[in-house]
Amino acid sequence: MRVFINGYGNIGRRLASAFSHDKEIQFVGIGKYSIDSKVDEAFAKKYPVYVPEEMISKFRNMRYDISGTISDAIKESDLVVDAAKDGFGYSNKINFYVPMNKPAIFQGGEDRTGEKKVADIIHNSRVNYEEVTNQKYVIQGSCNVSGMGRIMQPMIEKFGDKIQRYDVTLIRRWADLEDTKEIKDSIEWDKNPHHQDDVKSFLPSVKLYVESYKVPSRMMHLHQMTIRFKDEVPNFDSLSDIYENEFGVAVLNKAKGTADIRKKAHEFGFEHGDTNMVHIHEETMRKTDDTLKILYSDDQTGIVIPENHLLFQSMMLGRPKKKAYEQTDSLFQISKKRNLLEKEFAT
Ligand SMILES: NC(=O)c1ccc[n+]([C@@H]2O[C@H](COP(=O)([O-])OP(=O)(O)OC[C@H]3O[C@@H](n4cnc5c(N)ncnc54)[C@H](OP(=O)(O)O)[C@@H]3O)[C@@H](O)[C@H]2O)c1
Repeated sequence: MRVFINGYGNIGRRLASAFSHDKEIQFVGIGKYSIDSKVDEAFAKKYPVYVPEEMISKFRNMRYDISGTISDAIKESDLVVDAAKDGFGYSNKINFYVPMNKPAIFQGGEDRTGEKKVADIIHNSRVNYEEVTNQKYVIQGSCNVSGMGRIMQPMIEKFGDKIQRYDVTLIRRWADLEDTKEIKDSIEWDKNPHHQDDVKSFLPSVKLYVESYKVPSRMMHLHQMTIRFKDEVPNFDSLSDIYENEFGVAVLNKAKGTADIRKKAHEFGFEHGDTNMVHIHEETMRKTDDTLKILYSDDQTGIVIPENHLLFQSMMLGRPKKKAYEQTDSLFQISKKRNLLEKEFAT
């Protein structure tokens, strides 16, 4: 299976690290659009680099050994994982993927409805892994959307129609660690967070209301989820009872904030400083009558990378879900990372 990663930003460079290490994938290379320090990084990692036709001479003038054009790379590939900045996935689909008849995975910044829609379905491995098998175009849900699916689906399976509704407040990081853009000292609100409709696209029967605020931090997202039950909150001792066997959900007890977890991920030497998961902060759980409040942080850049890898296995290989989780776990070492974090942040 020949795979090309089109785009080499925060998500593209992580996708390239993972897909280039997967022995069952023939890694075609990465698509780069501007000349900056990331080009040197890609060459240092020995990735074949493809650029737009009109940029070939500029890159070659800088003595970069370019492997060809974006179009050459797509022609060589069985799948493109598009990691373009928001909205550019749509133009890539129209200009390249459709005319060249190539399947593509898009990222969460692309649209599922309206004029610039790129696909009919948003993938969340915990909810609709099987439904993306053999699809030609699929969006991998964004980091917040991936995290919400990972937390809500086990709740639905455990408590089903005892749950009345979910209200979620997303506290979103301003920028990623590697971003050079300035962090504005402000709290910004979102008139109409796309996350609500995105989650409802794969969990259509839940009652869900989402608010979203952006805060001056680079350290992950934080979600406060309030779950209202029809009667009293069911009896369980710990959120570990619900999430013990969940892929990519750590239950922590004494992190003081999102930066503690990110710092630990770096200290442990996790690639790119990613945990690739959500972290429930169990000590903040509250139950009152019919209301359960949980708080969890979401590794913004890391969580979607194993999700893309799972999506690839369903879409292109039709692999059974259990086997796909095993494969992804062995590539990303999620279970090992989870154990380390749970031990570090135990009571
Ligand atoms: N950052 C996150 O935490 C996060 C999490 C989940 C999902 N996502 C989604 O992932 C996607 C990428 O986000 P990002 O954070 O990686 O953005 P980013 O860091 O701004 O990187 C975007 C990349 O797109 C490249 N590019 C420009 N034109 C392109 C084209 N026509 N085709 C392909 N690539 C093109 C840019 O290349 P040059 O640098 O060479 O100009 C840049 O490297 C977005 O849909 C975003 O919503 C992001």
